[in-house]
Amino acid sequence: MSAATKPPSSYEDPVVARHSLDGRRVLVVGGSSGFGRQVALDCALAGADVIVVGLDSAKSHATAQEAGALSRTKASALAIDVSDQRGRDTLVEAIGEVDHVVSTLGGRLGDGDSPDEDAIREVVRRKVEQNRLLVDAVAPQVRDGGSFVLTAGATRRPGEADGHGVVEGNDEIQALVRQKAVLLAPRLRVNAVAPTWTQTPLWRHRSDADVVRMREEMEAQIPLGRTADIREVARAYLFLMTSDFITGQTIAVDGGYSLT
Ligand SMILES: NC(=O)c1ccc[n+]([C@@H]2O[C@H](COP(=O)([O-])OP(=O)(O)OC[C@H]3O[C@@H](n4cnc5c(N)ncnc54)[C@H](OP(=O)(O)O)[C@@H]3O)[C@@H](O)[C@H]2O)c1
Repeated sequence: MSAATKPPSSYEDPVVARHSLDGRRVLVVGGSSGFGRQVALDCALAGADVIVVGLDSAKSHATAQEAGALSRTKASALAIDVSDQRGRDTLVEAIGEVDHVVSTLGGRLGDGDSPDEDAIREVVRRKVEQNRLLVDAVAPQVRDGGSFVLTAGATRRPGEADGHGVVEGNDEIQALVRQKAVLLAPRLRVNAVAPTWTQTPLWRHRSDADVVRMREEMEAQIPLGRTADIREVARAYLFLMTSDFITGQTIAVDGGYSLT
C-alpha cells in the first residue's frame, strides 16, 4: 500500500501508536483484586507487561500468573504494603521504569448502614495521602508520555446518609488528580476513574445477603437500572491510559448515578 493510501489509523502513525499498550509496562497497585486485577488482565491482553502489586502475596502471584497465561507478555507480582515509606521505597527499587501506573488504593469510604462521618473522614484522609505519596514516589520511574490513573468513587450524593464525607472524599481525590496533572505536565498525565457501587471483593466482609441487598438498592437508583460488571469499570482505566490528550479528569463509570 502506498503512503498516500495508508489508512489514517495505521499503527505506524505515531499518534495512533501512542494509543496502544502494546509493549508498554504497566504497574497496577491493587492489582491482586477487584478493579485492579481486571485492569492487569486487560493490559496483558492489550500487549503490555504488567507488574501486579497487592498486600497478599498469593493473590498478587495468582493475578500475575493469570495475566501471563493470557498473552505473550511478561507479568510479575510484588506483595508490598505501599502505605508506608519503606514499602514505597521497596516498590520504587523493584519496578524499574514503567509507562503507566494504576492505583486502586483507598478502601471503603462508606459502608451502607453506619453513617460515621469521622470514620469516613479518616479513610478519606488516608486515601488521598496514600495516593499522593504514591504518585510522588513513583513519578520519577514513569517514562515520558506516561500516566497515572487513580481511583475515586461515585457512591453517595450530597444529602444521603453518610453522603457528606463520601462526596467530600471523592472530591478530594479529584482535586489531587487536577493538582498532580498540572504539576507533572507536560511529561506525565494524571486521571482517575470514579466507579459507583460495584460487586468486588471490597465487600468481602459482608454476607451474601447484604451484598445482594446493597446491589438491589443501588440498581434502583442508577438510571441504567443495574450496577456495573468489573470489566466495564476496567475499560475506563485503559481508555485513560491510552488517551494522550486527557489529563486532570475523573471519569464517572456509574450508569448515570451521579446525574440524578
Ligand atoms: N467496589 C466498589 O463498590 C467501589 C466503589 C467506588 C469506589 N471504589 C474504590 O475502588 C478502589 C478498589 O476497590 P476494589 O473494589 O477493587 O477493592 P478490592 O477488591 O478490595 O481491591 C483492593 C486492592 O488494593 C490492594 N491494597 C490495599 N491496600 C494496599 C496497600 N496498602 N498496599 C498495596 N496494596 C494494597 C489490595 O491488596 P490485597 O487484595 O492483597 O489485600 C487489593 O489488590 C478503592 O479505592 C475504593 O474506594 C470501590
